[in-house]
Amino acid sequence: MSTYDIEGVKQSLLEKVATSDIPREVLKAPEIRELYAAIGSLPPEERGAFGKQVNEVKLAVEAAIEARESELESADVAPLDITAQWDVNTKQPELLPTENGTQHPLTKELEEVVDIFTRMGFDAIESRQIDDDHHMFGALNFPEDHPARDGYDTFRTEEGFIPPAHTSTMQHRILKDGKAKLEAGGHIAAVSYGRVFRNEDVDATHEHTFYQCEGVFVSKDATLGQMLGTLRSFFETYYGQALRVKTQPAYFPFVEPGLEFAIEKPAAIGGKPGEWLEMLGCGMIHPNVLKEAGIDPNEYRGFAWGGGIERLVMLKYGIEDLRHFESAKLAFLRKFAS
Ligand code: DAH
Repeated sequence: MSTYDIEGVKQSLLEKVATSDIPREVLKAPEIRELYAAIGSLPPEERGAFGKQVNEVKLAVEAAIEARESELESADVAPLDITAQWDVNTKQPELLPTENGTQHPLTKELEEVVDIFTRMGFDAIESRQIDDDHHMFGALNFPEDHPARDGYDTFRTEEGFIPPAHTSTMQHRILKDGKAKLEAGGHIAAVSYGRVFRNEDVDATHEHTFYQCEGVFVSKDATLGQMLGTLRSFFETYYGQALRVKTQPAYFPFVEPGLEFAIEKPAAIGGKPGEWLEMLGCGMIHPNVLKEAGIDPNEYRGFAWGGGIERLVMLKYGIEDLRHFESAKLAFLRKFAS
């Protein structure tokens, strides 16, 4: 028979398995390869019996591997230490002094924007960061399968929820909540501000995450003229100077007529006469949007507007690249520290 101490090889392999953390690696041990190689080197009449023994060794090793693997799996893992790593009674964790931090420029400017509208008599509510198809489209008079929906590159969760692509998703809630005020003889005046999300390729003027502010006003006799006055007054306060403004027609399913509102770039920040900048979308609220919220469009009318915050801020400070805001670069952020 063979000169191989096959029993001895088996024992040494089983021992390796029993002490290994990755027992399956033992199948690659040189001893196993040698045993198989040995089969071929034997006289043909001995190969059958030897081959059988080699196979038995392999089966024994595999069985031992499985046993070792389940032993390792059920082995006690040291429990996580979730207690505080310092003595809470005597020591404090090390924190940076608060004077090292400042508000992010967008937070600061957004507060300024909201503050101006609040002083004009508008309620302010933060917009949601997760919403649904009804508030994003349906309640805003976007018909099912209408191509206007494609104008908003919305993200969607697997469950079908939508991180809103505009703050207009808040309009339906503002209208529904304000209905009682209208019926009591008052009006609805609210702005909604916050983060919105679009599946955009990021460049100097596009981000997948940005900020908007939306305004809604409804009364018995709201007019387009009131809207233009409100917007002009806002921009003049924000930029601190008199401004020329103009509009041009635009299509948004939730307003009729729909407009784009532009300002003439302020001279104080390098604007030349006739240099117009489109700042936001606006218009008279579509009767279907009022109806959807239970408000009779024959009795009440309203106007709404919505636009990006970054654009306002970039213009105010001459910031050339939108990506700075989310970059967390201290050199950029420190310029706005106060
Ligand atoms: N939601 C629109 C957008 O993000 C902007 C907009 C246009 C808002 C017209 C309005 C409006 O309220 O009336 O593109």
